[in-house]
Amino acid sequence: MAKLKKAGSSAEKAPKERVRVLIQRARIQKRIQELAKQIRRDFPDEQLHLVSVLKGGVFFLTDLARSIPGQVSFDFIAVSSYGENTHSSGQVRLTRDLDSSIEGRTVIVVEDILDTGMTLQYLLRLFQQRKPKHLRVAVLLDKPGRRIAPVQADYVGFSIPNEFVVGYGLDYSERYRNLPYVGVLMLGGEAQGPEQAVRRD
Ligand code: PRP
Repeated sequence: MAKLKKAGSSAEKAPKERVRVLIQRARIQKRIQELAKQIRRDFPDEQLHLVSVLKGGVFFLTDLARSIPGQVSFDFIAVSSYGENTHSSGQVRLTRDLDSSIEGRTVIVVEDILDTGMTLQYLLRLFQQRKPKHLRVAVLLDKPGRRIAPVQADYVGFSIPNEFVVGYGLDYSERYRNLPYVGVLMLGGEAQGPEQAVRRD
């Protein structure tokens, strides 16, 4: 869940929140169709096992899964990060494991956003140990400017700048996940940079 790094005192007036549209719903849906085709082209005869990371990746997974022709199954995993800091602390831990084995399967990790890369680095290490036949990564949004861990996605919807984004699964204190578009969160008229607002559990 994404929260403000330092909450203001209760006496402070809550800043006015606004969301500026960054990627319209139609663009997201069109791009997902393209990614789905690309994934199927790369693995024409395989059953694809999509693994999404709760909670943010769920919308992307459901739209992607419905756009990929042929056999598709899916599963969910949940992780969280320790302490007060962001995932940049590197302390990612598993809070909900997959329901079934991925050994010998063609697995696509489906994430809403690739930010510092700490979550993905943890997941790739974990999944690699379980001996999948293929292991690939699809992310809707990539923020290459924030990367700490040396990981990258095989399929990227959109590369975006260092702004705090919400919508299409991405939250701010659990809100805005249900927006059908991706937008930049503005507090008091200012866009929230990653140093003000952080993704964490
Ligand atoms: C977000 C997102 C990724 C992770 C990426 O999850 O869904 O899993 O952060 O960040 P990283 O590249 O810096 O590791 P979040 O912790 O906000 O949880 P949520 O999906 O439940 O909102």
